[in-house]
Amino acid sequence: MKSPLRASLFTLAITSLGFAADPAAPATAPAVAAAPTAAATGIDFVRDVQPILETKCLECHNPNKIKGKLLMDSAAALLKGGSDGPALVVGKPDDSEMIKRVILPKDHDDIMPPKGGPLAAKEIDVLKRWIAAGAQWPQNLTLQYKTPEQRQALAELQKKLPTLKNIQILPDKYSLETKRDFHRVVVLATFQDATTKDVTNVCDLRVADSKVAALDGLTLKPVADAGSTEIIATLGGQTVKAAVEVKNGTKDRAISFRLDCMPVFMRGGCNQGGCHGAARGKDGFRTSLFGMDPAGDYIRITREMPGRRINLAIPEESSLIEKAVGAVPHSGNQCFEPDSVYNKKSSRARSSWKAKTPRSRSPCVPPTPTAPTAM
Ligand code: HEC
Repeated sequence: MKSPLRASLFTLAITSLGFAADPAAPATAPAVAAAPTAAATGIDFVRDVQPILETKCLECHNPNKIKGKLLMDSAAALLKGGSDGPALVVGKPDDSEMIKRVILPKDHDDIMPPKGGPLAAKEIDVLKRWIAAGAQWPQNLTLQYKTPEQRQALAELQKKLPTLKNIQILPDKYSLETKRDFHRVVVLATFQDATTKDVTNVCDLRVADSKVAALDGLTLKPVADAGSTEIIATLGGQTVKAAVEVKNGTKDRAISFRLDCMPVFMRGGCNQGGCHGAARGKDGFRTSLFGMDPAGDYIRITREMPGRRINLAIPEESSLIEKAVGAVPHSGNQCFEPDSVYNKKSSRARSSWKAKTPRSRSPCVPPTPTAPTAM
């Protein structure tokens, strides 16, 4: 029972921290790989060293922010060092710049970390012993900066991980159509006691072919014009995949009343029960409650009070906009800032309505005023 448990914990430590095994990364330097095992030194990199580097050093020595020209996310990077030469000299803590910097007096200009107080004596001791024992570093492991809160969340998850039953990617299929399309990815873990937890942030999440689609944080976006790939999540030794299909990924789509404008009314709270979603609307303007009737809303917005609610000649002067951004008195006050994405979205919608040819009957693209009925 013991060893599979330990193995799964170890895998968690690697996978949950987001260490993608990067096939392009050079293999760990032989001097480092040939180091004595954790058992021999009492130091385990993942357990003891990694937390110190990730919470105390990586903030300023990561690929997006390389202070002192020193990257600290891999053994190779430490061996290469920064403007003052190698930060790590295997077997020689006293010659390693990373140690020299952390043992400086508290008020010294060059002390590392430069803010948040010096490392604790115990932490310095761990780093020294790790270097003296050969600076063992798991192959292809790349460190990432973690806030203390993220570390805490990971530690809590780690305790529960041996009872992990399965993980699931939600939704289990992704279809991205057009350039503007995107999809938030969620990874859900189920434990043996039937509890579930959102582990999206702590699992290793990646797209098999980043030339087809890519993750921007936890949001999946198209890259290629067309293609299919998979999104892969790994946690605690379990791996799950979900299919990703991209169509017209480099083409934009026409603005849609249903897809683009309706969410703005919802987000702005316009169609709430206490506002225009009330049975009789508010101050003469009624929408369906929570946007349940987009077709009806479309008629009311574009057909009632022609030229006032929406002004196709001068979109900014539409009362729909002027009231929402607080340019004219509005009993519902200002709903969003003039430069907010919601206003931009609706202005874009309005200009695209203007540009539409008459008699457009597409259910999603509002016609120009010359078209008599369709939404
Ligand atoms: C808040 C930002 C910040 C943090 C956190 C930080 N450093 Fe630095 N580090 C710097 C800056 C800025 C420099 C460049 C200026 C200098 O050399 O003092 C630097 C330089 C260094 C250098 C010298 C690089 C060279 O070759 O010039 C080493 C070694 C170093 N840091 C190690 C560490 C270690 C080890 C930690 C964690 C215990 C750490 N740093 C945490 C900002 C930081």
